[in-house]
Amino acid sequence: MTQSIYGDLYQFSEMSGRMNMPVHQYLLATEPAIMFSTGTSSQAEWILPQIETILGGRPLKYLFISHMESDECGGYRIFQKKYPKIVIITSPFSARELAGFGYKGRIIVGNEGKPLIDGQLSLSFFDYPSEVHLQNGILVMDRGSGVFYSSDLFARDTSDGRVKDGRWTDVLQNIDTVLIPDEKKRLSLMKDLEHADPRFVASGHGVCVRCSSETYR
Ligand SMILES: [Fe+2]
Ligand SMILES: [Fe+2]
Repeated sequence: MTQSIYGDLYQFSEMSGRMNMPVHQYLLATEPAIMFSTGTSSQAEWILPQIETILGGRPLKYLFISHMESDECGGYRIFQKKYPKIVIITSPFSARELAGFGYKGRIIVGNEGKPLIDGQLSLSFFDYPSEVHLQNGILVMDRGSGVFYSSDLFARDTSDGRVKDGRWTDVLQNIDTVLIPDEKKRLSLMKDLEHADPRFVASGHGVCVRCSSETYR
């Protein structure tokens, strides 16, 4: 049974042969609950029973999809089958793509400057130039828990272990020119994130970062 990695945040992890790196998905078991990425369809199959146990029969309300890639959303149909009323939160680009794949469930488009507040969740969104043709995906920060889901943003951090301590200002310096080759968009994202001040960076790949107030202020 998966243990909490930070407060109500649970990490599900698998080594992806295709990407040759660990792929992480996260459940934030707040009220309502939200999942950050589904993993591939095979990952979704083994994650879902654990989610059901952690939530103790409560429904999973939200599914956050940063961008259209199999490790981020390959299992979305399996999640929707288990939770038919699930609401997908994603970028405008991915919302259009999902419609094209025949998805008929509810979609909320995450916009910068338009937070989503629901119960314990207080979600802010950041444009993230991650898609093919550099169209935007999105990233998300829950201000209630202090959790920031960073998707592929820090994917090249190969530090050992599941969690390390760090300063947010230092973490931001790792935003990769390989993952975001457009210099203007990379600098713009760094500026947008400057004041996010998360307490925990839930990375889509590699090590997570615990940003204690003592270390980043
Ligand atoms: Fe990706
Ligand atoms: Fe990824």
